[in-house]
Amino acid sequence: MKKNIFKFYFQLGSVGILTAFLFACTSDENSPGLEYMPDMYRSPAIEVYVDYNNPNSPSALQAPENSIPRGYKPYTYPNTNEGYELAGQELKNPLKLDQKVLDEGKVLYTSFCAHCHGKKGKGEGSITNAIYGAVPSYADETPNRRGNRSMSQLKEGHIYHTIMYGLNAMGPHSSLIREQDRWKIVAYVQTLQGKDPLAASAGQMEEPEMTEESEEEMEETESTTTNEITE
Ligand code: HEC
Repeated sequence: MKKNIFKFYFQLGSVGILTAFLFACTSDENSPGLEYMPDMYRSPAIEVYVDYNNPNSPSALQAPENSIPRGYKPYTYPNTNEGYELAGQELKNPLKLDQKVLDEGKVLYTSFCAHCHGKKGKGEGSITNAIYGAVPSYADETPNRRGNRSMSQLKEGHIYHTIMYGLNAMGPHSSLIREQDRWKIVAYVQTLQGKDPLAASAGQMEEPEMTEESEEEMEETESTTTNEITE
């Protein structure tokens, strides 16, 4: 009995090996041989964006009109003079400004802008190519190329808009810098314009009439609240 079982397994094994040989061996060395249920090896996968002559193919559906990629916030001001003026009027820095924001803005500014605009924003960056010879100083009092205002009069929205689209030799930076970081840079650029964005954001209230007494008070408080950026 025991012997019979052994014999049975031996026979079964030989048949298996024989079939494997039969199926596996072909003269073409690149051929996989005879495949039993080839779909199991190669699934008929639908590749993305391949035109299978099927307009309703789920692999190539167009995104619905006006859809917005996840995590992307559209910027609605067009790259025109009107868009620039409107951005200047309407856009306000959404960040709560404090010294930390300015410090971070300075780091970002140093990475993204200083090679052209210079560390102090006077247009004295390290890039010396002739086309970057006309980088204006943020503190300029003379009218800049667009609009009828000087660089020092640019509002936060103008600066933000310029980061988004660039201007002439300055390329757009919207894809390089995240929204929050753009606003940090804007706040830092304002310090280079000679403004104090911290005071501006804290002082939304109307300024009281100056009397001699209140002037003295101001001087006292100023000495404890000034936040000057030092190089
Ligand atoms: C490749 C050099 C380069 C880099 C980098 C660069 N700029 Fe400029 N930027 C310029 C030039 C050149 C101009 C003047 C363009 C003109 O008036 O034709 C300019 C103009 C500006 C203006 C004035 C725009 C106006 O309305 O007149 C602002 C604001 C400004 N840049 C901010 C920035 C900020 C912020 C960064 C960093 C995120 C930056 N720039 C990076 C070259 C550069």
